[in-house]
Amino acid sequence: MNSLLTNVSAAVREAFAAAGYDEKYAMASVSNRPDLCDYQSNGAMAAAKAYHKAPIVIAEEIVAAVLASETGKLMFEKVEAVKPGFINLTLRPSYLSSFAEYMYAYDDLGVEKAAEPEMVIVDYGGANIAKPLHVGHLRPAIIGESVKRILQFAGHKVIGDVHMGDWGMPMGLVITEKRHRNPELVYFDENYEGEYPEEAPFTVAELEEIYPTASAKSKEDPEYHAEALQAVLDLQNGRRGYVALWNQIMKVSVADLKKNYGNLNVSFELWKGESDAAPYIDDMLAKMEADGFAHESQGALVVDIAEEGDKKELPPCIVRKSDGAALYATTDLATLVEREQLYHPNQVIYVVDKRQELHFTQVFRVAKKTGIIPPETKLTFIGFGTMNGKDGKPFKTRDGGVMRLEQLTGDIEAEVRRKMENRDMPEEELAVTAKQVGLAALKYGDLSNQASKDYVFDLERFASFEGNTGPYIQYTVVRIRSILEKYRQELGVEEAEFGQTMHDACILPPMKTGEDGAAVVNDSEREMELVICRFADMVRQAAGELAPHKVCQYIFELSNALNHFYHENYILSEADEEKKKSYLKLIALCERVLVKGLDLLGIEAPKHM
Ligand code: ARG
Repeated sequence: MNSLLTNVSAAVREAFAAAGYDEKYAMASVSNRPDLCDYQSNGAMAAAKAYHKAPIVIAEEIVAAVLASETGKLMFEKVEAVKPGFINLTLRPSYLSSFAEYMYAYDDLGVEKAAEPEMVIVDYGGANIAKPLHVGHLRPAIIGESVKRILQFAGHKVIGDVHMGDWGMPMGLVITEKRHRNPELVYFDENYEGEYPEEAPFTVAELEEIYPTASAKSKEDPEYHAEALQAVLDLQNGRRGYVALWNQIMKVSVADLKKNYGNLNVSFELWKGESDAAPYIDDMLAKMEADGFAHESQGALVVDIAEEGDKKELPPCIVRKSDGAALYATTDLATLVEREQLYHPNQVIYVVDKRQELHFTQVFRVAKKTGIIPPETKLTFIGFGTMNGKDGKPFKTRDGGVMRLEQLTGDIEAEVRRKMENRDMPEEELAVTAKQVGLAALKYGDLSNQASKDYVFDLERFASFEGNTGPYIQYTVVRIRSILEKYRQELGVEEAEFGQTMHDACILPPMKTGEDGAAVVNDSEREMELVICRFADMVRQAAGELAPHKVCQYIFELSNALNHFYHENYILSEADEEKKKSYLKLIALCERVLVKGLDLLGIEAPKHM
């Protein structure tokens, strides 16, 4: 089954053709007057010019054609032409319920997969080796993970790559500082030819302390800075001891990063970094030079990227520094060489701070111009805005420092625990729940904004169980679960069989037909069913626009519809048994849609709250 909008559009298209109009005018969209209809088509207005007819005349012909067709009869309860030439369409409750019934029968809610699945790489972690994850790493992790899940669910083959910063100056700094502290280590002995020790010469804690110390020293001491630069170069040129020490840095740091990303419920298929691109750099640069794309400029190697029509003058992209070292652009380009060779992606998506836009414009242009990436491959930059504090400035710790991610998630969990203080819940469950709710607050607070926008991190608001928040959606899920659990106990069936029992024993609304044979439904029931049925439309749109905020909007709307329904109707205490069963099935479906929606955001729903 297609999505609702696809089906409506097809019906409208069919009518345009039947009435003798070009199908290209037959567009349909979700109604912007939900009080009047579910869908609308403004196609008659568009066709009017081409056919030299009054739009309302065309609209009336289309309405007649829709009503005359088999699909039209099946789908629509009401189809109307409205001046000056709109076509308003209202679905039949029976159509909605068969659509919902179909969704219920499939684990993936019947969402149709992309007809031509694409191979997509999402580059989204960006963690830097030897540095702790801080709030700046939060947005790429959260947004990237969600974009990946949405695309996967839409049927694409998606690989997430953390693309660690593991090959630049920070590595030189750590090596240099370690050398000052422990010059006796074999890693620094150029004549050493033996095996290097198994065990790392530092802990994560020490590693994380080394980097800022070294970075501060290098800013003050030019000699130290020069040493670090040389260390980068030596490492990149494969100096044995440095490569061995670098491997130790990687081992310790990556283990810690995996733990931290795991705590965020964020995972990567690939744990690659800038260093993985190293083997591709020399050939890539040689080819760029041979093909006449790269030229020397003040000792460095650059590629011009300015194009006609640029509003601003774009500086050339430096692909090799004058000392021969690779820079950020070099590794990003060589990574594209590697990605093209290994995965031949249709699209590469970068989820990175929008302040890096120029860098990516340069990299994309060079990649296309020099043929690293074929012309049809999409390179997409999702530049995200800054997470600010209530003062409107980038979020900091209370004393103005950079906040570590662990501290932030800890603070949120504490806030959630405070809210749940009076709950009668065993500590073990509370710990899991506080974590799930805390992450929901954090992720939803972030994802409900358009990625490119800055937003204010407001712990109290994000963690509220009411309003447009992650915990509110979770709370709605929990509410449904508790109703269903009561019903399960009432029936006395096992948890594992409950879904099937519901599937077999209950049918979705509408349950009743009136004297004239028309379905009897109440508004809150219909509203909820309609929103549920729009799930696939939403997935399609969110995947097309790479927009997790569309998922947020949708699950918020659905949660509101559920809560409205809950307040308007008796469910467990409904006297009419058939009606009760149909309500239960509807909310059971609603629960699954909400849970899937949350999952697309990387959020889990707790059992109780
Ligand atoms: N490590 C980088 C940073 O902290 C982000 C990496 C983003 N990805 C990329 N392919 N450049 O700024």
